[in-house]
Amino acid sequence: ECTLLIDCDPGIDDMMALAYAFAHPQVQVAALVASGGNVSTEQVGRNLRGVLELIQESVPVPAAAEVPWALGAENPLKQTLTTTEETHGDFGTGYAVLPGQSVPTEKNHDDGARLWVETARRYEGQLSGVVLGPCTNLARALELDPELPTRLASLHIMGGALNHRGNTMPTTEWNIHSDPEAAHQVFEAFDRPDAACYPVLCPLDATESNILTPELRQRLTAGKEDSPVLAALDDALQFYMEFHEGDGLGFIAHVHDPFVTAYAVNRLLQEQGDEGALVLGKEVETVIDVELDGKLTRGQTIADWLGRWGRTPNASALMTAEAATFFDHYIETVRSCYAH
Ligand code: BDR
Ligand code: CA
Repeated sequence: ECTLLIDCDPGIDDMMALAYAFAHPQVQVAALVASGGNVSTEQVGRNLRGVLELIQESVPVPAAAEVPWALGAENPLKQTLTTTEETHGDFGTGYAVLPGQSVPTEKNHDDGARLWVETARRYEGQLSGVVLGPCTNLARALELDPELPTRLASLHIMGGALNHRGNTMPTTEWNIHSDPEAAHQVFEAFDRPDAACYPVLCPLDATESNILTPELRQRLTAGKEDSPVLAALDDALQFYMEFHEGDGLGFIAHVHDPFVTAYAVNRLLQEQGDEGALVLGKEVETVIDVELDGKLTRGQTIADWLGRWGRTPNASALMTAEAATFFDHYIETVRSCYAH
């Protein structure tokens, strides 16, 4: 069993990640935090609520309706939030329309960090954090509870580009670019001998290998007429693939967040001795830091592969992805829950 807190900014691929997490029989989603990123924090909150409603209406996924969730910070630690409607659509979910997506959430900003802390204490030693947006809320949670690194079972962060070009600026990836100080603070906070785990950074080096083709999309969403969740994923993916096409990559989509979620789940299951757990990529232990000052490189993630900084490892970098295995697993897991 994996107990997850997912901090995300749906976001088309975030939405895919949520559909997977709720569909996986060995995953318990303990809490969700809405992070500003792809769209505003408030809109992400509406999207989270909409996804939960859609999932709950479609299939009786236990407790989807009761999962505690909170809005995170309105802005990154030191800069004003920029959003990316061109990548994810005006509401963050491409052409998909979610229930209540235009209705305000009536939640307070900034409760996300508190929810991190409360959930980590409630599931002391059991909780795995999965960050699929900027690290703002986790950084603020670490300020509220500096002992958080001793409490988590694992931490996976989708972000960065190590031996790979960026997808935002030449060397930067969107999530880290959106709040470089927060990511820096996270790596610093876990750099202590009694940390219960290292952050596993899952950069573009691995995630961009997961190329969703029209054939894979068709396998995923066949029969969508009878499944509101599959229909929403299909509408969202249409937009996402058009975006990638406009970026000169062909009519495909890079699916980052569901891969990172599946990687985190399978890694945990492996640690628990589950023989069915899949190996979805390869990690390398290293020192990771984030450039905060570079005129051209602010927000770049750097791994000290040769140990030139003379520091002990503070992280693990996921450098490869078993894309075919991941897609088979993702499609099977999602369809087993939402296809009728
Ligand atoms: C990351 O940025 C977001 O747009 C995606 O949801 C993903 O988390 C990829 O750079
Ligand atoms: Ca995301």
